[in-house]
Order: sequence, then structure tokens, then C-alpha cells
Amino acid sequence: MCGIVGYIGHRSANEVLISGLRKLEYRGYDSAGVATIPLLDHPADRPIDRYLHRVRAKGKLIQLEEKLKADTAPQASIGIGHTRWATHGKPEEHNAHPHTNTMGNLAVVQNGIVENYHILRSELKQLGHIFVSETDTEVIPHMIAEFLTQLEKQGNMIPDKSPSVLFEAVRLTIAKLQGAYAIAVIHADYPDEIVVVRQQAPLVIGIGKDENFCASDTPALVAYTRTVISLENGEIARLTRESVQVYNSKGDRLRRAPQTLNWNPTMVEKQGFKHYMLKEIYEQPGVFRTGLAIYVSETNKVDLGLPTGFIEPIERVEIIACGTSWHASLVGKYLLEQLAGVPTSVQYASEYRYSPPPSLKNTLVIGVTQSGETADTLAALELAKSRGDRCLGITNRVESSIGRISDAVIDTQAGIEIGVAATKTFVAQLLMFYLLALEFGAAKGTLTEARSQELIEGLRQLPAYMERILEGQERYIEDLSRQFTHTKDFIFLGRGINFPIALEGALKLKEISYIHAEGYPAGEMKHGPIALLDEDVPVVAIATPGSVYEKVLSNSQEAKARDAKLIGVAPLDDPAAHEVFDYILPIPVVDEIFSPILTVIPLQLLSYHVAAHRGLDVDQPRNLAKSVTVE
Ligand code: M6R
Repeated sequence: MCGIVGYIGHRSANEVLISGLRKLEYRGYDSAGVATIPLLDHPADRPIDRYLHRVRAKGKLIQLEEKLKADTAPQASIGIGHTRWATHGKPEEHNAHPHTNTMGNLAVVQNGIVENYHILRSELKQLGHIFVSETDTEVIPHMIAEFLTQLEKQGNMIPDKSPSVLFEAVRLTIAKLQGAYAIAVIHADYPDEIVVVRQQAPLVIGIGKDENFCASDTPALVAYTRTVISLENGEIARLTRESVQVYNSKGDRLRRAPQTLNWNPTMVEKQGFKHYMLKEIYEQPGVFRTGLAIYVSETNKVDLGLPTGFIEPIERVEIIACGTSWHASLVGKYLLEQLAGVPTSVQYASEYRYSPPPSLKNTLVIGVTQSGETADTLAALELAKSRGDRCLGITNRVESSIGRISDAVIDTQAGIEIGVAATKTFVAQLLMFYLLALEFGAAKGTLTEARSQELIEGLRQLPAYMERILEGQERYIEDLSRQFTHTKDFIFLGRGINFPIALEGALKLKEISYIHAEGYPAGEMKHGPIALLDEDVPVVAIATPGSVYEKVLSNSQEAKARDAKLIGVAPLDDPAAHEVFDYILPIPVVDEIFSPILTVIPLQLLSYHVAAHRGLDVDQPRNLAKSVTVE
């Protein structure tokens, strides 16, 4: 949560910072700010020739951009910026980053949480530092200032290996901080450097010619450079115009080879779609095809690129994830158990950490996360690793933290997703679970060659069906969704492999349309939730031919008898479905095992259009962020 960006070079710092923040707004968008060190035209007219200039605004980035248009400060070529998702302190301007010290000549942006800020704050207050926000972050500039004063009193004597006084003050500060964070620091008295730190929150450095950058995520950099260094936990870097120097927390210089990103800026554009979410829904067939092309040979052999002998000793799987990734994991459990016969459990990462299951030999722990940076998932995976479990990451961001923690990582090939509501990354995660189940089935001998071939052929058919749903249904769903713009509650029902899809449909609707929605196993309705139903509570039932089809139709009838309006995600030409449902979102008939890949699409479109008709900000729903980097 929160996006940070920094620039030092020869361009207008504000332009680079705003362009970077635009690409990071998915990480938080309740306020934003920049701090720069402007170049003064007539330094002789002033007592000092450099000063720190800060502009902040409550609300989305556009508010900050408006303020900057009216700003008359001279240009700067060094600065830091921030887009916030509030943790400590309301989303008000005085809590927006960058935060400064009492003198106002030093600025800090932070992504993460300083857990021991309370005690540090009272210590610093006693030393005379004046706090003006409710944030945890504000202790950082004050503490750096405190160390600078102490160093100054000692004649700025710093260890030989330390590259600058500011660097040393930051290094001494972070030794006092507890928590998970990434920060960037500038100081008007040290106008030729930015000091950045990574401590369990992402921070990537972009390397240019006579200019350098830093950001929470690579999309903020790709417009300027594709040469990057991802900092590791505990590392501190000093950026000047000409160089990037990386150190460990003891101040020892490290040699880090830059990597080249294989991205281009258009990957993070809307490409004619009104919202990123809609674009990403439409990208799903392509993502699915790419995944198949990369991991399945022409002779239908699956190879996810796992190390030799990785799967064979495994006797059970534990999957940890959050949100939509958790829903994908529930489908994964179904596939691993029903196709490959591997006992599998799925836990919320935030629960696993504090109540892990008993440690058993030969357990594979899989962390599933689109961002690769979800703090709960990373912490849970770290715990599993410390218990000696083999760890696998499934993500579309292999360069992220999960890639570094896991023993092996599977790239879902979905690419970056910008809409806060996960869509294409969900479908890509599902495909990885199909392929993983096939690999397990082959390694353990629980799937026959014939069944494997049949399943792979079935998977190959799906992108065309996905396209058919997108082409055939969007207009209809857009019209239908108008009826629900004022609805207050929705129920989603599914059974078996489609129960997680009911959960996912409900989550999609609530997170972008703010309509209360619940997903239930259809058979569970009569045990309580049915009391909620009346003519004002529509029910969406996923009813696809297979082992539970008739049961779901019966459960839907029970809802209909309570006057609920019924929407069926169901085959078009089945009279039984026509009799039950008021509206049908038709699904091609496929083997039940593949149905989630198709049934989720109309639900994504339904939530998208309901939210769009309600005039809401689909890509940036209130209170949310794409990357949840705090626990
Ligand atoms: O990046 P992750 O997959 O770890 O994120 C997990 C959840 O925060 C995420 O799926 C969230 O629920 C989405 N907003 C769902 O659309």
C-alpha cells in the first residue's frame, strides 16, 4: 500500500514524480504529495540557495496535479513523491506524505508501517521535535534530523565506508525502526542525493544516463528506463545523478548487477477501454493462451519449470493467499484433490501466521498472490519456510518479494494488472492450478495418460469459449445491470468447483460497486441465509451441467419461492434452467471441471457494469489498494 517515487537528474522532477505516481496510484489514492529541492534563479537574493519545497493534496492524484499547476516555485531536478493509502491518521492533507522534520528542510516518503512509532515519537518530542501529523511516518524525518544534529556536533565524523552524512543519519535511523517499510529521503542541505531503504516493502531503483529513479514498482519507471535494481530487505541505496550505490545495513558496499525489464510502457495503458478492469477482463483469453503456449508442449506435456524432484516427495499441500487469490486457491484445492488425489488445505494468509497447522513432513506450501507483495501472504510463507516446508510461489510478478522468498516460483504469465479488482490474474492463477494438478497427477501416477490428454485438450478449447462469452454477453449484461444500480444486497450461490466462483462474484460486486453481497454454497442457504431473501435481494446462481447441476437448480427454486429475482449463470438451451431463472447469463457446456474459467466471466462483467452505472471509480474503489503491503 502506498506508492513512493524519487528522481534525481536533469529533467523536471515534478513531471517525473507525477508520471510515476500516476502509475502507482493503484497502490493507494487517498492523498498525494511531492517534495523537491528547487534551483533558485537568484541565489544571492536569499540567505540560503537551496530549500525544500513541498506540495500535498487530499484526494486523488488529480488534486495534487491541480495544485502543482498553480504552484510558482522554481523548477527542481531532485524530488520524492507519494500516493497514500491511510494506515495511521485520516486521509487529510496534514497526514499526506512527504513528511518533514521540524526545520522543514528534510523530507521522507514511506510505504509501510513503523510499528514502534509511539515510543519513538514520545522520545523525539522530549528532545524538542514538533509533530504535526497523526502518522507513524513522521518519526522518520525527525529521527534523521536528530542523528544529523548529533553527527554535526561530532564534526560530521562518519565511518570511512559511509558515502555521506545524510546516508549515515538514515542508516542510524533505520536501526531504530521496527516494522515493514520502504522509504526515500531528501535534504535541502544535501541537494545531490536521495537515500532509499527497503525493509520488507518493495523498492526498485531505475538507472538512467545522468539520472536515476526509485519507485515502489516498475510501472513508474518504464517510461524512462528499463535497467533496474530491486533492493533486498535491509539494503540502503544512495542515488546521485551519476551513480547508484547499494549498501547493507552495516554500511558495507554491495555489488548489485542491474536487470533489464522486458516491459514496454503500452502494457500499462488502457488501450481504448474505458477502464483498466474492462481491458483486463478482455485480456483473459489471451492470457490463457499464453499460459498454455508456455507451459504445455505440442505433444501435451505440462512443464511448469519446477526444479527436478520438487513434486515427487510431496504428500500434502497447504495453500495460503488472500482475497481473490484465496478464491483461486479454493479451486486449486478442488483440482489437486479431485484430479491428482493430493490432500490440500487452503488458509487465509492472515490467519495462517497466527494459527499454523501442525508441521508435517513433505508438505508443500504454496503462496498465491498476484502482486507478489501481499504482506500477510509473504509473512505466512516466511513462517512456512522457517518450519522447513518446501515453498512455491504462484504470481504474475516473479520479480516481486514472493519470487525471492519461495524455493520455486510459477509465473502465471498474466502480466501486470492495474484495476484494483483482480480479473485476468485470477483466471491465470486458475490455469496454473490446472497445470499443477496435471503435473502432480503425472508425478504421482494418479492421472492416466488418457485422462491427462483429455484434460489438456479441454483446456485448449477454453479461450475460444471465453471469447464467445465476452463477445456475446457484454451488451446484454450492461443492460441487465441497470436494474441493479439501486440494489442493496445480492446473494451468489454455487456448489462444488463453482462455490469459490460464487465467493469471487460476490467479492467483485462488493469491492467495486459497494453493494453488499455474499457468496454461499448453494446447499447451505436453507441453514440460515435463506432468511435474508425477499423480492429486493437478487440471487445469482451458478448452475452448470455436472455432478451438482440439479441440486443447484433445486436450491435456486427454493430462493424463487421466497420471491428473489434469479439470475442463472447456466446453459442457454436447457428448459429446466429457463423455468427457474428470470435471466440467464449463458455459458457454453463444457466438462464441469473447466466451468470456473467460464462462469467467472459474466460475474466480472456484471459487477463491472453495475459499478459503472452507479458512476463509481471502477479501477480505484474507495478504501482499497492493489497491493496490500501492510499486515
Ligand atoms: O496481490 P494479491 O493477490 O496477494 O492480493 C490479494 C487480495 O488483496 C486481492 O485479491 C483483493 O482481494 C482484490 N482486490 C480482489 O479483487
